[in-house]
Amino acid sequence: MLALHVPGAFTPSGKSASVTNSDQMIKNQGIAMSLKDAATAVRENAHAPYSNFKVGAAIRAASGTVYVGCNVENVAYPEGTCAEAGAIAAMVAAGETRLEAAYVIADCPAPIPPCGGCRQKLAEFGAADVQVTLATTDGLERATTIGDLLPGAFGADHMERS
Ligand code: THU
Repeated sequence: MLALHVPGAFTPSGKSASVTNSDQMIKNQGIAMSLKDAATAVRENAHAPYSNFKVGAAIRAASGTVYVGCNVENVAYPEGTCAEAGAIAAMVAAGETRLEAAYVIADCPAPIPPCGGCRQKLAEFGAADVQVTLATTDGLERATTIGDLLPGAFGADHMERS
């Protein structure tokens, strides 16, 4: 199994990885990995003993670096965090604030719809036209955008009188 660690690296050794952007491939030490592969791999690390529903997310930031996240549940159930939130947190912790593509995968009958909170989190860092691919582990994909996931989004412009 590949070792995964944040921010944005996929290496068997745990060393940091370099990443290209245009082809959505991570290239490091002979490993080439797509956004899909990154989300699929990190999903294996999900901590989901309460729901038994593992989710993986990968986002490509403006630099081309791919950041990954998985859901991390807690015995105090509301303290759990979603996969998308983990990937976004890794991106921000690494000093980046613009995401340019996202991929989310789970073992679902239909491609996983991000929860409402994650839609707002994606909208915080990605433009309305940013592509989001929602997927199932058995190969179904649905391509959508941040704007389609969160129509009528609350944004900073709504606070301009404040
Ligand atoms: N989950 C995510 O990680 N992302 C979503 O967008 C939907 C839900 C997780 C949270 C929880 O650990 C499990 O899936 C069941 O809700």
